Amino acid sequence: MKISVIGLGYVGSVAAAGLASVGHDVLGIDINAEKVAAYQSGNLPIYEPDLADLMEAGRRAGLLRFATSDEVSEPLGDVVIVAAGTPPKESGGADLSQVKACLSWIMERQTGLEAILVKSTVPPGTGAKLHETVLAGSSIEYVANPEFLREGYAVHDWFNPDRIVIGGGEKSQTLLHELYVGMSAPYVFTDITSAEMIKYTANAFLATKISFINEIAVLCDRLGATIDDVCEGISLDPRIGASALKAGVGYGGSCFPKDVRALDEVALTNDHNFELLRSVITVNNRQKYLPFYALRQRFGTISDLTVGVLGLAFKPNTGDIREAPAVSLIQQLIDDGACVRAFDPKATDAARKALPDGVTYTKNAMECAEGCDAMILMTEWEEIVNADWKTVAARMNEARFMFDGRNALNPDSMRKLAFEYHGIGRPSKVPKVNSAAPSLSDQHS
Ligand code: UDX
Repeated sequence: MKISVIGLGYVGSVAAAGLASVGHDVLGIDINAEKVAAYQSGNLPIYEPDLADLMEAGRRAGLLRFATSDEVSEPLGDVVIVAAGTPPKESGGADLSQVKACLSWIMERQTGLEAILVKSTVPPGTGAKLHETVLAGSSIEYVANPEFLREGYAVHDWFNPDRIVIGGGEKSQTLLHELYVGMSAPYVFTDITSAEMIKYTANAFLATKISFINEIAVLCDRLGATIDDVCEGISLDPRIGASALKAGVGYGGSCFPKDVRALDEVALTNDHNFELLRSVITVNNRQKYLPFYALRQRFGTISDLTVGVLGLAFKPNTGDIREAPAVSLIQQLIDDGACVRAFDPKATDAARKALPDGVTYTKNAMECAEGCDAMILMTEWEEIVNADWKTVAARMNEARFMFDGRNALNPDSMRKLAFEYHGIGRPSKVPKVNSAAPSLSDQHS
């Protein structure tokens, strides 16, 4: 098949390379000339494991080409995939302007086109409306085909999907089997709005699990229970499972925060107050500041402290800092007068642009620890978890306060190295009943 993929972010670039790898003739298109030039030269503008090799193979086979939208003069092919961004608006809803602009652009040059597959995450109801308006009178099929790729594992997830969700008419079923040749995942065929709803429901449900376990972790801290054991005990129930149950400083990234807020707005504009979702958001907003509260409780004031932050990306294996808990935390620490040192294996460049001047970026955890009163682990990168903690301890000031925001370290080992270790839902032996831990009404709720 000849396929065009419009929008070369995490989803579009992986889709383009993945489709080329099974023999489709793929043209990747973006309005950003710099981005296109980067893909053409093999110098990827994003960090995503295995993507560079996959793209290189596609380019060598002559099956993967890139162009800016201004340069495209050839027919777009049998199928166009739309993977444009839907960033959040002030109101919390999704900004659909890029998706709409893509559709109009496609409709101006759609010779021979069979279907438009929309992978961009759009609020339920959007596709059906666009089908009736932008595609009115044409035989092109609008297909909602949501993506469930995780950053850091996007190439793996592309080739090993749990399911392929297709929202559209009958023609889309044959087309999609041809497009996803060789994929053995179950297909879910449905209408456009239900397919869109599946994407939001999946992300909102996973975010709910995370906020739920984070609430349980706060209670564990108060009562002297251990969240790790509680999670093990509940996850052995197959109805609950183990995924999305890691307590920590909360979810970030380009999907969960945005999609949960957008679903909340969809509910409100459809006369429904989705109270559970509101709490999910409130709890998540609080979690990223837990290390800050812990520092304030321990030291009384933040202003004289030197704090080392380990991990800036919203999760390991990505250089993405969008809605990363570490970014909000560092901003708060700086606002309160702390001196901040930071380390991340891939996200330093992005962080430099997003954070105020004054943060000292370092090459590893040991260098980060130099002269620190406290260290805060915000992202569980392998090289952070496996750092030389003995040296880290030796380079810190006497307090050796360690807040493990991802429960990624072994508390006993850390305490043996003379760290004052704090996790989330991992109390030391003395239960902290009546401690001054933050409540939902605290300043960041
Ligand atoms: C997510 C979805 O998983 C994916 O299916 C969807 O298509 C896009 O959004 P992604 O944003 O890449 O993918 O990250 P994910 O691995 O799901 O983690 C999201 C955030 O939740 C991270 O900040 C992570 O640290 C946090 N998280 C995840 C937890 O705090 N606890 C968990 O148990 C799992």
